[in-house]
Amino acid sequence: MVKGKTKPNFEIFWTKGSKKINFHNPNIFFCLGRRGSGKSAFLETIGYHHLQNGCKILDLFGSKDGEGLAWIRSKVAEDYDTKLIHGEMVDLQKHKGIKGTKFSLEDLKKADIFISASPLYTSMDNEFDSVNHIFDKLWNRTYWSTPIFIIIREAANLLYSRVKVRKNQPMAKAELTYMLRESRHSGLALGLDSTKHTSIDVDIRKLTDYLVLKNLGMYGLPKDLHWIYSIFDPNTLQKFNPNEYGLVTKEGAMGLGTFDLPRWHKRKGEHILRKVGVNPKYYESEKESEQAIGYVREVCESLTGNFTPSDISDWIKENKGVEIRPEGVGLYLRRIDYTTENQSIDGKQMRTVKQIGGS
Ligand SMILES: Nc1ncnc2c1ncn2[C@@H]1O[C@H](COP(=O)(O)OP(=O)(O)OP(=O)(O)O)[C@@H](O)[C@H]1O
Ligand SMILES: [Mg+2]
Repeated sequence: MVKGKTKPNFEIFWTKGSKKINFHNPNIFFCLGRRGSGKSAFLETIGYHHLQNGCKILDLFGSKDGEGLAWIRSKVAEDYDTKLIHGEMVDLQKHKGIKGTKFSLEDLKKADIFISASPLYTSMDNEFDSVNHIFDKLWNRTYWSTPIFIIIREAANLLYSRVKVRKNQPMAKAELTYMLRESRHSGLALGLDSTKHTSIDVDIRKLTDYLVLKNLGMYGLPKDLHWIYSIFDPNTLQKFNPNEYGLVTKEGAMGLGTFDLPRWHKRKGEHILRKVGVNPKYYESEKESEQAIGYVREVCESLTGNFTPSDISDWIKENKGVEIRPEGVGLYLRRIDYTTENQSIDGKQMRTVKQIGGS
């Protein structure tokens, strides 16, 4: 039986102060937690509440395996219209999508839920171009009546995409901080998640209206948030189940809560493209890519144990004399039903290659 709720709800028990969350306001939610702690599921649940309160949803940066596409099979999507946003060289065949680099504010009238997922692009570069274009359009929205809840499943991606247009990291970071600060004026609510306690998070966290704490694993809270331990026991935070969370509002109210798993949420190892009937066709010099796919398949079938897209790239260079960048390998992997997954090996985080649906 598929677990989860078609109308996922949440509860909160305030332990210090209290606040009614208004899901029609352009607030910033920032979700911090280790891998698999239920961050994405939480963002989907509150996304659902934004939708119910008259907002639109833009699911922008999903994981590489297209997690955001799961909205299509939600009961919610039967009541609301969904539109896919895709890359230049991608044909969605049965689905009529919007090309990301051509996205205009007028397009917002076409649906309630917009999904831009990695498998709908030929490369990460294309995805970043598209996201940057959408961002620039949305942040120039001077007049709005419908707020948009933007889901960004890995906050660091936002910075990487801005580095692409600004060329240097400090400038991109300054601009991004400015954009987030100004987001409410353009009617943009944001739901960000992160596993990392990197410097970008500190600046972004300062702008959040709601800090959501999931299971933080062995590393615990970053230093600037250690004051939270005076209210929430560190042990409790370390033992959270995926349906549990702590909440800190920008006014300092704090609470503990539980939420339902949305029924549509993508399960681990699930081939979501197939499940929702999206079959993108990639046009990138078909002949060349067929050959590259052949090489990638050969490596996947020959290597054993844990290996990464960089290992595949090195192997192809050494054995075939052909250079395929690790990002390119990532794209070809998807086309032969493989994906990458973060794994901790000897205490080091690595993106290892896995067969979709395999163990
Ligand atoms: N509210 C919930 N109730 C029960 N189980 C849940 C709930 N939320 C999440 N889970 C379980 O935890 C799993 C991981 O959730 P989710 O994908 O949201 O984690 P994540 O923190 O986003 O992971 P990642 O860091 O890999 O992106 C889900 O597939 C589901 O099995
Ligand atoms: Mg996630």
